[in-house]
Order: sequence, then structure tokens, then C-alpha cells
Amino acid sequence: MRQIALLPGDGVGPEVLAGPTKLLEFLAERSLLELTGPWPVGASAFGALGTGLPDVTLAACDEADALFFGAAGEHPGVSVQDYRPEHSLIGLRQRYDLRVSIRQIQHRDGSPLIVLRNLLGGAYGMAETRDESDGIEPATDRISLTREQISELANMACDMVEQGLASNIVSVDKANLFATSRLWRTVTGEVADRRGIEIRHTLVDRMAFLLAHDDVVGGTVILTEGLFGDILSDLAGGRAGSIALCGSASVHPGPPSRGKCVGLFEPVHGSAPSHVGMGRVNPAGAYLAVAALLEWFPETAAFAPAVANALGQAINHGPLTYDLAPRGTKPASTEEFANAVNAIALPLMKEFP
Ligand code: IPM
Ligand code: MN
Repeated sequence: MRQIALLPGDGVGPEVLAGPTKLLEFLAERSLLELTGPWPVGASAFGALGTGLPDVTLAACDEADALFFGAAGEHPGVSVQDYRPEHSLIGLRQRYDLRVSIRQIQHRDGSPLIVLRNLLGGAYGMAETRDESDGIEPATDRISLTREQISELANMACDMVEQGLASNIVSVDKANLFATSRLWRTVTGEVADRRGIEIRHTLVDRMAFLLAHDDVVGGTVILTEGLFGDILSDLAGGRAGSIALCGSASVHPGPPSRGKCVGLFEPVHGSAPSHVGMGRVNPAGAYLAVAALLEWFPETAAFAPAVANALGQAINHGPLTYDLAPRGTKPASTEEFANAVNAIALPLMKEFP
């Protein structure tokens, strides 16, 4: 049985995880998975325990197949001068070699836009790739990509097309500037040729324009280097109408590199410090993350469409949270929207043995 560790983390993390966690509890009651936690992580953990990644959390994560994560970011009462919240997220990515990011952005035409990028390597190198400035000498960040790193990602994009999760691939780079991008273009092209799948190449600045102009349709995989994908996925989220319409999976393809953990699943929006405790943020990203988590494991994949469909229906019928509610209508609270999703999802999930 797959084990899932709950890591609500900072800011609005616990608020958005509450609703989708009920769906995981439903599966746990039926012995279809095991849930542990909640475990402390991020700035809130630092505030309480003096570390963003306490040993008890790391031990629980080593035992788990996947992490359902809320947010690591600003948390009331903890200063970013004392603790940089990204350390916990980057620490978990490095610990389990979660080197691939898959982000799904709900698109108007129904099928999501997918951003597939490296999370380790490239611009996301280890500490050795960075020289901090002493205030006088320059600072340096080295970007390095291997053929193997690029071809693994390109093959995953081709798999998505073959499995019907996407209809086309656009590879995004900065080949008019970076050597790593020229290698990217060569290797992604070779992989696509070998797999008999069409790929288009676009420069990242052009891609930003196309996304902002809404010229990129759902069903597209944007295959790109980590930093480009970081920026483009937020841009695509903004275009979708709300950053809450994006779910994120950080995964380790193949057998686990440490413990059992092969994935961290989270909403994209982060800790949203100005909304904490108001019960108003949209939990859609956390639902997309749960759907991606269930989908990742063959044992639970059958339940993923129920979650995604329920979310889609709740978005279509409303009432919607403040970020999506039409002007002049009363927005739903986080809990009201989550209850609406669960009321549709649970009966669908009960249909499976
Ligand atoms: C994200 C975040 C991280 C990233 C930061 C916290 C390092 O922006 O998950 O998109 O750039 O990957
Ligand atoms: Mn980001």
C-alpha cells in the first residue's frame, strides 16, 4: 500500500490541504493508501523547532512514497531574514532526487497546459554552482546541462503524447544566447525524431509573448529548462485566471534514490501570507496536486479522474472563491468550495471497488 506523508507547511498551506486531504482519508479508510502526518516543514517549522526540515519530518518522508505538500514560504511571526523558506523545498528535492517538475495549468478549452522542466541541474545546480559575492567581487551562477538530463525530459514529454495526456510538444530554449540551450535544441530534436513525435522549438522570450497573448492551447507540453519553466508556469497560471488553477508535481523517475519517496505534490501558489487565516483562498491547486499524486501510482491512478472531474464541475457550477467569483457575487470560502468538490468527488470514488 502506498504511503502518503502530509506536509501542510506555511501560510495558507494547511487551509488549502484540508479539503483534498478528506479524499485521501476516504481512500485510507478503505485501505487503498496509508496517510501519515501532518509533519512540520518550512518557516513554521523553523519558528517552532529551529529548523525548516526537522528530523522527524525527514524520517517520515523517507518512509513515504509521496509527499502531499501545502507551501513553504512566509509564515506569520517568522522573519525571512532568519529563515529562507525555499531551503526546505530545495532540501526535499535534493534529498529524493526529485529532478523533474510537471505542472498542470487548467486551460479554458478543457485540457490542461503542461510545463515540464528540470528541477535539479541546469539553472538549479547544487551549492557548488554558485559563488556568492562578498559585496565587492562578482556573484556567479553556473548553468550546466548534460545530454542525459535533456533526453530524459524529452522522453517524458514524448511519453505524455503517446499516453494521450498531451497532443503536442513545444520545446522552449534560448538557443540564440546559451550553449546549454543549443545542446537542448539538438537533443530534444533527436529524441523526438527517434520517437517519431513532432516537436516545435521556440525561444523563451517568444514563448512568453505567446502565452501572454493566449496563443498556446491546452494539450500542449512546454518542455523547457528549469528557470524558463519556473517563469513560464507562473505566466500560464496568471493567464488561466488564477494561480490557484495550477498543480505541481516534483518527481523522481524510476526506483527511489533514497527511502521510498518519489514525488512531492503541491499547489503552485505558495504560502500567500496576506491571505492567511481568512479561509478565502482557492484550494483548486491542492486538488490538482492530489489528482496528480493519485495518477502517479498505478495502485491509485483509477481515482485521479474522479478528483479532476469533480474539480472541473465545481469550477463550472460555482460558487467560486474570491479569485474567480464574478464581480458582484458573494465569493465562496475555501471550505465551501472544497465541500462542493468533495460532494461530487466522493460518490464518483465510491463507484470503484
Ligand atoms: C517553484 C518555486 C521554486 C522554484 C523556488 C522556491 C526555488 O519558485 O516551485 O516554482 O523556482 O522552483
Ligand atoms: Mn516558481
